[in-house]
Amino acid sequence: AAEGDPNILTLPPWTTSLGQAVAAHPYGLPSQYEKGLQRRESPGLTRMPQVSVAFTPLQGLFGIITPSGLHFERHHQGWSDIDPSRHRLMVHGTDEGFVKQPKVYTMDDILRLPPVSRMHFIECGANTGMEWGNVAVPTVQYSHGMLSCSEFTGVPLRLLLEDCGVDWKKAKYVLAEGADGSSMTRTIPIELVQSDEVLVAYGQNGEMLRPENGYPLRLVVPGVQGVSWVKWLRRIEVGDQPWATKDEAIHYIDLMPDGRHRQYTSTQECKSVITTPSGGQLLLDKGFYNISGLAWSGRGKIKRVDVSTDGGVNWRPARIEGPVLSKCLTRFNIDWAWDGKPAVLQSRAVDETGYVQPAYGQLRAVRGTKSIYHNNAIQSWKVVESGEVSNVQVL
Ligand code: MTE
Repeated sequence: AAEGDPNILTLPPWTTSLGQAVAAHPYGLPSQYEKGLQRRESPGLTRMPQVSVAFTPLQGLFGIITPSGLHFERHHQGWSDIDPSRHRLMVHGTDEGFVKQPKVYTMDDILRLPPVSRMHFIECGANTGMEWGNVAVPTVQYSHGMLSCSEFTGVPLRLLLEDCGVDWKKAKYVLAEGADGSSMTRTIPIELVQSDEVLVAYGQNGEMLRPENGYPLRLVVPGVQGVSWVKWLRRIEVGDQPWATKDEAIHYIDLMPDGRHRQYTSTQECKSVITTPSGGQLLLDKGFYNISGLAWSGRGKIKRVDVSTDGGVNWRPARIEGPVLSKCLTRFNIDWAWDGKPAVLQSRAVDETGYVQPAYGQLRAVRGTKSIYHNNAIQSWKVVESGEVSNVQVL
């Protein structure tokens, strides 16, 4: 620096030449210097890339909205770019009494209806599912990256059911079915539809859904695990009992310590995670750090988040950044002066119902270690003297 900074003294090409033309990229792209931030597949997780997961890089994101190109992907049988002019949504009843007038909607029909836009998180029920028994993955991208948050635009499903003359007294459940080869079908309780929360969505972050996320139509079921957010939505059936389809009888059931399974455990309970500093990152030097993370609850708004830097002995309340919305990601931040000594970073969220995110010991006492789904335990990141951060578990 004594000789002067060449980045200041030598004028760079972007100062001495003409830049690129407008609309060089008619649909904009991130900077070439941001290529490291990508959705990533966990190596060896599945045998086929079509039946797999690509995780959101939570460690590199700010605020609460996930850029659409980084929204996590989970497909049971690959994705297709569906021609919207050939896409149809059928709404009907299990038998004649459930809806007066079964209908088939085109995309044009749906786009004519009055829309709503709402911000919500979507989390796969299997998020953090590899960590039930022990530490399994190195980074927050793989431990918590089946989590994204967007502004979704669409039509309340209630409106479509009323358009078909639903009998609200008879209707107890709806079945949602996707147009992909996986026959993804999920039962949704009618109360969620009546509350106006369930959307038949076509918009995501101001643009049409991306093909990987269900273009041109997907179900949005706020607070409920991702599998119920049926993509490429083509059929809604109204009935009076759960269908117990393969995706709710064999998969997406919670194995309990006594060997029995819990079924229809759809709500994503209150959870949080520190996204930076997090596993795989390196602290450069002792001194000031901003600890930042995300909190969310399938039961409503986040009330508070406490952060510990000593593995859960002492806790301090984090700053909650607005907006704080129901069933939406909430960003928290807290100042930390690292003294260069080993530390264990944790966050613990509380939602508006008073539910407190559990420690691993508390969760395992009830749920055991053999489940895949609904692991909402407190995450711990260990910092060692070299500044390296790694994934550890604290009971
Ligand atoms: N819908 C269909 N039709 N096919 C699928 O494979 N995957 C489900 C759900 N909806 C799936 C689907 C699962 S398991 C999850 S977690 C979410 O979509 C993932 O949504 P995303 O890929 O937009 O992140």
